[in-house]
Amino acid sequence: MSALLELDRLSVDLSISRWPLRTTLNILSDITLTLARDETVGLVGESGSGKTTLGRALLGLQHISAGTVRFDGTPLKTAADFDRIRPRTALMFQDAVASLSPRMTVGEAVTEPFRIHNRPMPDWRARAAELLEEVGLPADMASRYPHELSGGQARRAGVARALALKPDLVIADEPTAGLDVSVQAEILNLMADLKDRYGLSYMVITHNLALVRHVADRIAVMYLGRLVETGPTAEVFSNPAHPYTGSLIAAEPKPDPRKRRTDLAIKGEIPSLIRRPSGCEFHGRCPLATARCRTEAPALRDIAPGRKARCHFAETYQKQGA
Ligand SMILES: Nc1ncnc2c1ncn2[C@@H]1O[C@H](COP(=O)(O)OP(=O)(O)O)[C@@H](O)[C@H]1O
Ligand SMILES: [Mg+2]
Repeated sequence: MSALLELDRLSVDLSISRWPLRTTLNILSDITLTLARDETVGLVGESGSGKTTLGRALLGLQHISAGTVRFDGTPLKTAADFDRIRPRTALMFQDAVASLSPRMTVGEAVTEPFRIHNRPMPDWRARAAELLEEVGLPADMASRYPHELSGGQARRAGVARALALKPDLVIADEPTAGLDVSVQAEILNLMADLKDRYGLSYMVITHNLALVRHVADRIAVMYLGRLVETGPTAEVFSNPAHPYTGSLIAAEPKPDPRKRRTDLAIKGEIPSLIRRPSGCEFHGRCPLATARCRTEAPALRDIAPGRKARCHFAETYQKQGA
């Protein structure tokens, strides 16, 4: 599989000045990640771990402090480079209703990407009807306004808009958040259909592990703005190599509450980015932490073919879990 997107040591720093604080926060650090054509990567981590910032940075919507983004083999350096590839990418937001302008009809909203990118569109009404049908909405919904749609319909309209220009890469940020379970399943099935039909690559950003288990070929786990584990989804779920990944899996809601491993569940709060912990940044919450972990920062290293983990004791941890 050839790489569609390659992130190499990406960092994002933000300078914050909110009195009395004036400092630079390192929001993302050292992110190296590849997305192959037709692949779905699930980016997971607790709220605040930097997932949304990463999705925006790789589309050039967030200033990158260091590192590079390559898209389809070409490094993107300037704003113009990112603008050039933008029609080949789409960002699906969590809040689909809010991302559709309230003053535009649904038909205008789903065809807006053609206007933004100066694409000829001889008959926009016909194009709108086509796009709506592709996502399973009636064509006459084109004349409605976003507030007239249900949550599921608005989310479908958001998908239609994201796919209007037939992108290669879709960044879906919490694509099912706030939806009822049955509607969540509908949206996931729709995304899977469209992926097959158009050969899309997805980066699915979520804190919902059940969702990535269902849709992702590979998973990338973030903690405090760094990747702590990457690998094929099934392998990572069956034998996580980073204790943080293990804790997230253990804390997943289970149909049978007795099967939930509360003994492994993650303890403590996410540390503040203002005071990043020394050594391994997970040490304060880690059941395996030793003196070494408090002082020596682990690198993200290969632990098996296709698998990486940022833990000094990944092999020990895996043996315990096996
Ligand atoms: N514009 C900003 N100003 C200050 N802090 C920010 C800004 N954007 C993001 N952050 C901080 O960056 C961290 C990562 O945020 P985000 O990418 O939204 O995480 P996630 O999507 O995983 O919940 C959080 O600690 C958040 O508070
Ligand atoms: Mg987010």
